Amino acid sequence: MTSMADQQATRSPIFGLGVIVMAAGLGKRMKSNHVKVLHQVAGKPMVQYAVEVALRVAGHRIAVVVGHQAEKVRHVIEAGITGTPGAQAVRIVEQAQQLGTGHAVMQSRSVFSHDEVCPAQYLILNGDTPLLKESTVRELLTVHQREGATVTILTAILDDPSGYGRVIRRDASHEGHAHSSSDVLKIVEDRDATSAERASKEINVGTYVVSGAFLFEALDKLEPDNAQGEYYLTDIVRMAVAQGRRVAAVTLRDPDEGLGVNTRQQLAAAELVVRQQIRERWLDAGVTMRDPGSVWIDAGVTIGKDTVLYPHVVLEGNTVIGEETSIRSGVRITDCVIGNHVDVLDSCVLGQSCIEDDAHVGPFVHLRPGVVVRRRAKVGNFVEMKKTELGEGSKANHLSYLGDATIAEGVNIGAGTITCNYDGLKKHHTVIGKNVFLGSDTQLVAPVTIGDGAVIAAGTTVTQNVPGDSLAISRVPQTNRIGWVAKRRALVERAAPSVASVKTAVKRLTVKRQKASAKSKKKLGRSSRG
Ligand code: UD1
Ligand code: CA
Repeated sequence: MTSMADQQATRSPIFGLGVIVMAAGLGKRMKSNHVKVLHQVAGKPMVQYAVEVALRVAGHRIAVVVGHQAEKVRHVIEAGITGTPGAQAVRIVEQAQQLGTGHAVMQSRSVFSHDEVCPAQYLILNGDTPLLKESTVRELLTVHQREGATVTILTAILDDPSGYGRVIRRDASHEGHAHSSSDVLKIVEDRDATSAERASKEINVGTYVVSGAFLFEALDKLEPDNAQGEYYLTDIVRMAVAQGRRVAAVTLRDPDEGLGVNTRQQLAAAELVVRQQIRERWLDAGVTMRDPGSVWIDAGVTIGKDTVLYPHVVLEGNTVIGEETSIRSGVRITDCVIGNHVDVLDSCVLGQSCIEDDAHVGPFVHLRPGVVVRRRAKVGNFVEMKKTELGEGSKANHLSYLGDATIAEGVNIGAGTITCNYDGLKKHHTVIGKNVFLGSDTQLVAPVTIGDGAVIAAGTTVTQNVPGDSLAISRVPQTNRIGWVAKRRALVERAAPSVASVKTAVKRLTVKRQKASAKSKKKLGRSSRG
């Protein structure tokens, strides 16, 4: 849940702070063709969570270190930050070979050395910790300042700390002083830990504040003398302690926040937490959910108050939904803008489309990209639309395909109307003027234009433009053949015997056969005796 502190903390950047996001690793444990930081949590790539926290706290400069699938990661980061305040502060640097987290941070040196004044402190974030809150990061910065620390680390106490780096503190009982944040000695990776160290339940979250004067000097001295042969960023803790510098630590009250995603199981765990936080945020903002647990809302979605979400609604991407709108069960909406007082009935799939105020959509409607449903318009059962505008108050209530069409206001689209927009090579446009009435089962062979007020008779195949206020009718004139069915019936009966006569014939035949077989048995008996 977004706390008050979190809300108050937003949008006040800290000057003199450099931020480094590490996002170059492949993430082998994900068993994926895709780089780990691009895996999504609540519809948002993981790296974007870290970059967003960075943007909210940093006033100076943000370096994002990319490596595996660098171009893809760069593209996702750039797409995610366009239009965000402070986006121009983001610099993407490449770590060509992934030699460890310490090596990753080293690659960002150039980003900060160009400026006249180097950052007084650095905030370093792992790219795979999507639950980390801005308020926690600010607390870490505050503690770092207050304690005059050189390195400040974020820790969490976990029941199952396996896989994480363990925080090793000075044994308080031996030293005879109380457990304080300055008794941190080192961070030891799971693979390098002794069994005693591995027993520590306090883990390193992977979020650090480091003093400017110390960071790159310390990184230059790192040695890859560990199980993985990597340059570990975590070794700077041990180095600061050895130099008699102060290392501070903040321990998370909610350990979930420190979840690092290395595996699909951890990805699923992060998803569960974020989904719940998002639901709670919208419930608190005045959205009704009849069954919150079954509702999926992506991180980029916005919902107005008094909107009601029924069970099993999925809202994806950057969907925006207005106030007092109702979304019934089994609806999936992706990247749409939906107005106020809109009714979306059950089982619709709506994508990259816009539905204006007071419109009515569904049940069983499929809106493909580029649809605009104007105010008070209605789209009903089994209607598919694509790149089409349906004008104010117009109706397409049943069984239609409307593609590449501009439909003005007050139009009635009859059941079974099809825009034949594709000739096998190209797509063509259909234009329907104001207050046009299309009868049922009409085909509009595009390109074609129907003038204002025209009426198209049911069953018409429109192949030419129809002038305004005119009737178009293209069906074969109907003829009624009086008595035709009765004559046919008589003919059929004469040609084929009735059911009753067939039954009698079958009975006669059976009796005849029985007699014949009895006769032949008698004959046989006589000959055997003779
Ligand atoms: C790291 C920490 C560990 C901590 C854990 C928290 C180190 C040595 N260990 O371990 O103490 O408990 O995070 O989740 O730092 N990366 C690069 N370049 C590299 C290697 C990694 O950019 O050469 C990036 C990754 O993309 C990822 C982050 O750094 O975003 C952390 O790397 P990862 O391999 O997941 O580290 P952990 O083993 O989880
Ligand atoms: Ca990790």
